[in-house]
Formats: sequence, C-alpha cells, structure tokens
Amino acid sequence: MSILLTGGAGFIGSHTCLELLQEGYDIVVADNLSNSKAESLKRVQEISGKSLHFYKADLLDREGMEPIFREHEIEAVVHFAGLKSVEQSVRHPLEYYHTNITGTLILVELMQKHNIKKMVFSSSATIYGNAKRVPIQENEPLQATNPYGRTKLIIEEIFRDLSIADPEWSISLLRYFNPTGAHPSGRIGEDPTGFRTNIMPYLTQVAVGNLDIVNVFGGDYPTEDGTGVRDYIHVVDLARGHVKALQKVVGTKGIEAYNLGTGRGYSVLELIDTFERVSGRSVPYQVVSRRPGDVAISYADPQKAWAELGWKAEKNLEDMCADAWRWQSNNPQGYSD
Ligand code: NAD
Ligand code: WQD
Repeated sequence: MSILLTGGAGFIGSHTCLELLQEGYDIVVADNLSNSKAESLKRVQEISGKSLHFYKADLLDREGMEPIFREHEIEAVVHFAGLKSVEQSVRHPLEYYHTNITGTLILVELMQKHNIKKMVFSSSATIYGNAKRVPIQENEPLQATNPYGRTKLIIEEIFRDLSIADPEWSISLLRYFNPTGAHPSGRIGEDPTGFRTNIMPYLTQVAVGNLDIVNVFGGDYPTEDGTGVRDYIHVVDLARGHVKALQKVVGTKGIEAYNLGTGRGYSVLELIDTFERVSGRSVPYQVVSRRPGDVAISYADPQKAWAELGWKAEKNLEDMCADAWRWQSNNPQGYSD
C-alpha cells in the first residue's frame, strides 16, 4: 500500500515525504512542478537512502492523474498541491479557484472511483481571518479575507459535505500557522519560484546578500514592540504532524480539523533579532507602513492536536532560524545551485 502526496515536491510536501520515508511508508508524489523543482525529491531520497515514485502530473489533468491510481495501490492521500500566495490570489482569483478547488474536486473524484477514502488536507490558519481571541481554537468562527483563504474555506466545506454524504470517508484538515525553517541537513528547504512574500525566505535572502533590506510591515500594532505577532512553526515539526494525522485517518472515520502551531507568538522584531543571533549575520531592516490585510496577532491553541493526534511542536524559534539559515547559506540560489 502506498501514500500519494499531491504537491509533494514543494516546501512542506518534500519535508513530509522525508519523514514518511523514514517511517517506512511507500511514497508516490504527483506534482506539476509549478512552484518546485524535482531536485527537492532527489535530495529527499538521498537523505533518507530510500526511493519514491514521482509523477510530473497536474491535478487539473484528470487523464494524466489516472495512471497513478492504476499503477499503485493507494491507501491514503496527503493533499498539498495548490497555489498559496495571498497577494497573487487577489490579482488572479479565477486561477486560484480553478487550481485549488477544481483540482481538489478532480482528486476526490479519482479517489472515489478507486475506493480511496482517507485524506489529510493542507488547510491554513488564514481561515480564522481576524480572530477575536488568541490562542485560536479550532471552533473559532471561520472567515476568509482574500481569494486564497476562500479556496481553503470552500475546500474544508466540500470535505464536510462529503463526509456527511459518505461516512466512510476519513479526513484530517490541518490548519498550519506560519511554517518556516528547513531540514537540519541543509539539503532541502523553501525555494519558492518568483517573488517572496513570506518573512523568513525574504529575511534569509537579505542575509545571504541577494536582497537589500527587510521591510517590517507596521510598527504600530497593539503588540509589545508594535510589530505583528505570528506562530512560526518548524517545517520538520509540521511534517511529523502529517505522519500523526495519517496514522489517525487510516484508523478512523469522520472529519476533524487540527491547528498545527506551537502555541507561542513572536513579533517580527523578535524573529529578526533571533535570526541575527543564531546566524551571526546582521540583517538591515526598516519599519514601513502596515501591509493591507495583515492581522496584528495570530497564534494557535494546539491542544486538540496533542490530545487527539499525540502531536506537538518540539523545535523552537532558534532551531527555525538556524535551519533556515543553513539551508539558504548552503544554497544561495535554492535548488538551482
Ligand atoms: P509549495 O508551493 O512549496 O507546494 C505546493 C506544491 O504544489 C508545489 O510543489 C507545486 O508545484 C504543486 N502544485 C501547484 N499546483 C499544482 C497542480 N495543479 N497540480 C499538481 N501540483 C501542483 O507550498 P507549501 O508551502 O509546501 O504549501 C503546501 C500546502 O500547504 C499548500 O496547499 C498551501 O496552501 C498550504 N499552506 C501553506 C502555508 C505556508 O505558509 N507555506 C501555510 C498554510 C497552508
Ligand atoms: C509574517 C509576519 C508580516 C514579510 C501568510 C499567509 C497565510 C499562510 C502563511 C498560507 C507578518 C510580517 C512579512 C515582510 C514583514 N500561508 N512581514 N515583512 O502573512 O502571517 O501568513 O503565510 O496559507 O495564509 O497569509 O505570513 O510570513 O507573510 O508574515 O514585516 O517582508 O511578518 O506583516 O506580521 P502571514 P508572512
């Protein structure tokens, strides 16, 4: 029996491939490489000393996806594939709705056809919008503030409807907070195609000398130092959360959402300060105006994942900064090096 990872060549997918291979799973990856490189999977195999099956396939191409289901006995799917830039989703909403929602519908139809009803899905804390309370619990009201977030919200609703219509389905909705860091080997990490909008890949690019200065978006938030507070979570912890969620969906039925975060928030200035300390590099920054759509404070209550999955984050902000820096300094141009 195999596990299919859609989007498995990407940032979170590649780290999850590695953890699953190390746990002894047989892995099949489907990825169109629109925001990743096959090199990530070569390195995953190199680190683990194990091989996986890779298909360069687009979720929107039903015929292209079909052979994967014919050629492998798939037990469960971990569904990462999709577009993830908030900013791009505002500019290109139809592309986001089509890729994320139609792509998911095609995947689920193929799964149903082949009688596979176990799914771990990459949701996002973005669907809490401007949450009224922190730490944020899974039962907080959900709201989308941009097309990207709306795709995650709609997909969660689709899965809920599916689970009501067919109680044989077993689905884990994993709501990630702010994934960052890299595998401690320094061989795999975050290498987005095109413009970087997330803070850590931007910061490491400034530290390595490819960009000039970090713009800190907003110094007047109601936080201790005035900058935004987020729950940064190490990608290896996150990947291990998928292993736990997979074990859960394989053994149960129904649908559950889980926050994957550390439960602790750090400000942008705390992040920069920690990064400078562990990397030994000074990072020039300037405080500029707020970025439209940003919330002041977001961090998880991760208790449900601990109680029901037996998972909690183990790595701290120092680990995230040290590992992100090791990856970036060893690979200044990412996988193109
Ligand atoms: P990523 O872009 O590195 O990985 C996504 C992968 O999906 C890429 O390898 C890309 O090539 C592939 N892909 C995109 N469209 C595809 C299609 N039509 N067919 C096949 N493959 C396709 O992103 P990531 O950071 O690893 O995120 C993985 C998932 O987690 C995404 O669904 C994202 O929305 C979600 N998520 C990410 C974050 C984050 O900050 N990184 C936070 C919350 C949720
Ligand atoms: C973090 C903090 C910024 C860049 C986004 C998505 C969310 C999820 C994770 C997918 C904030 C500040 C940032 C910079 C800065 N992705 N910042 N200068 O916005 O919390 O979440 O990624 O699901 O949906 O919205 O993450 O890394 O962009 O920002 O000061 O150049 O860093 O204002 O306080 P965000 P981020």
